[in-house]
Order: sequence, then structure tokens, then C-alpha cells
Amino acid sequence: MRQPPRPELSRRLLLSGCAAAGVAGLGPVARGASGPRRIRFSHVVSEDTPKGLAALRLQALVAQRSGGRMAVEVYPDAQLYGDDDEFEALRTGAVDLLAPSLSKFGRVGFPEFEVFDLPFLFDNLDEVRRVTQGGFGRRLLDGLHRQGLVGLGFFDNGFKHMSADRPLREVSDFRGLRLRVQSSRVIAAQMRALGARPVPLPFSATREALAQGIVQGTENPLSNFWTQGMHEVQPHLSLTRHGYLGYAVITSERFWSRLPGADQRLLRTALDEAIDFGNRITQTQHDKALASLRAWGRTTIHEPTMAQRASLARAVEPVYAELGRSIGPAWIQDVRRAIRA
Ligand code: LMR
Repeated sequence: MRQPPRPELSRRLLLSGCAAAGVAGLGPVARGASGPRRIRFSHVVSEDTPKGLAALRLQALVAQRSGGRMAVEVYPDAQLYGDDDEFEALRTGAVDLLAPSLSKFGRVGFPEFEVFDLPFLFDNLDEVRRVTQGGFGRRLLDGLHRQGLVGLGFFDNGFKHMSADRPLREVSDFRGLRLRVQSSRVIAAQMRALGARPVPLPFSATREALAQGIVQGTENPLSNFWTQGMHEVQPHLSLTRHGYLGYAVITSERFWSRLPGADQRLLRTALDEAIDFGNRITQTQHDKALASLRAWGRTTIHEPTMAQRASLARAVEPVYAELGRSIGPAWIQDVRRAIRA
């Protein structure tokens, strides 16, 4: 069962603990006189999700392969940093690894990442892999150097669905609805195209905003929906599968360049394996969340028909032209080419 995140309390406790240990002053590759090299990995979701479990797998692999010489410390549930401050924390060396959703890179200066937010772009995860594992994905990660960041890889959460205080199957169902969105212009434009009012909020504030009626609905893959307890405050879930949600694992050049070559190789190999593991459990995590939701029985689950999905897709099609310029038309052309490759 879900453990409700308590980001503010946890963060205060952790930070006071860190300060007491003098962690803040240890610099980007923290290492005590005799202790292991500490690698702090902060993320915003629960541990029992593809990202949470992949982070723990990385932790185990690094501990085992370095013989305890390196230690990945995982801070889930926005305990340390959330959507609003995690990039800054990485730049300043307060954390060393992040895996933000791809939708969160646009706001910090990488609008090309918002290509993944285009609605109904991917039919399945094989298509996503062709994009992320090939030259297109490499170019996106390389571009992170513009801000002193190093892109280490991509991995999936999966396809997003919509929840609300009503079923969302037809375009008319969205009219006037306040929907929590991530800080992506492409996602916001989609919701506007459907007649809804997008409200960008940090992930850690979403459940509370739903509970208080500040927003009436949201979108997310099922593992996030279930582990955040959104089902407790959302009576309807519509399996719209209208978009993809994935992550990029990133670090800072400052951290990376101070790691000895052998440690870079160890971390990279362990990360590749952890990502692979994360990608392999995505479907089971999704199925598990759906089974738990069905067993819970108090959120009504709707399956839009093919015709309903097609009419939703038609309604959001203008987003491609509207946001094409800000993403970059060449990126959109290239992602389509990579999907077909
Ligand atoms: C969200 O903010 O909705 C999610 O992308 C959070 C996450 O990292 O999966």
C-alpha cells in the first residue's frame, strides 16, 4: 500500500542531518576520509515505481561492484528536492544524479525535449526505443552540455492516462476542467486544445491539489497514479493512453569530470543495467497498479473506444503546428523519421 510522501518534513530532517554531517561542504563528489564515495540520487516519485526501483537497482549494483567503495544514496518522493529546485540542486552540487521526466527539460532551456510530450506520437514502447536508443536520443543528451549537464540515458515510465472527477472519453468532457500538468508548454497546449485549463504544479503537490479541489483532474502513468494515492481523491480514471512519459538520467559535468575514469565506467555500466531493468518492469508495474486499482474498486475505470480516442487525437492535432516552432520543426521531423526507421 502507498506510503504518503511527506516532502517538506522529510527534506527538513534530511537537510538538518546533512548539515550536521557537513555534507553540504563536501563538494560534488563527496567522500569522507575513510567512507565510500557518495553519489546522491534525488527523484520525485515513490520507490515502488519503475524509476524508484531502477534507482534502487543502481544503488545495489554500484555497492556490489565497487565493493562498497562507492555508495548511491537514493532520495525518493521529493524528500530532498522537487520539480522546482532539483535542476538547480544538480548544478550547485547539492545532488549528483537526477532522472526528471522529459517534460521537465523544456522549462529549464531544452525545449527540444518536449517533442516527447506531443500527443498520440508513439503507438508503443518499441517506437519510443527507436527514438531514445538511436542517434536522435544521443543528440538530445549531447545538447545538455549547453548547461554543463551530462546525459547518461533514457528510460520509460510508460503511457499516460487521465483521471478526474468525471469520465474523460469525449472532447466535450474536458470543457472547463482544471487539470494539473507538468511544466511543459506542449502538455499545456494539449489541455487547452481539449477545452480544459492547464494548471502547472510540482508532482509532490498534485495529490493535495486534487484533494482540495484546486484542480479536478490530472494525467500520469498508472504506477504514479496508484503509488501517490491519487485514486483516493479521483473517482474516475480514463485509460486514454494519449501520451508518453519517460525520463533522462542526468548528472553535472562538474561531478562527472571529477570521477576517476574507472568509476565513470563502473557507474555508466551499472546505470545501463539499471535502466534496462527499469524498462523491463514498466509493463508489470503498470499491470500491478491496474490490478490494485480494480481491487480497490472505488475509482471507476473507463476504456475509451477507438473512435473516442481518434476524436481526442484529432482535437489535439493542432498542437503539432502550434508548438512546432518552440520545439523546433527539425526535431519533430526527425522524431517521426526515427519512429519509422
Ligand atoms: C509528474 O510530474 O507528473 C511525473 O512526471 C513525475 C515523474 O517523475 O514520474
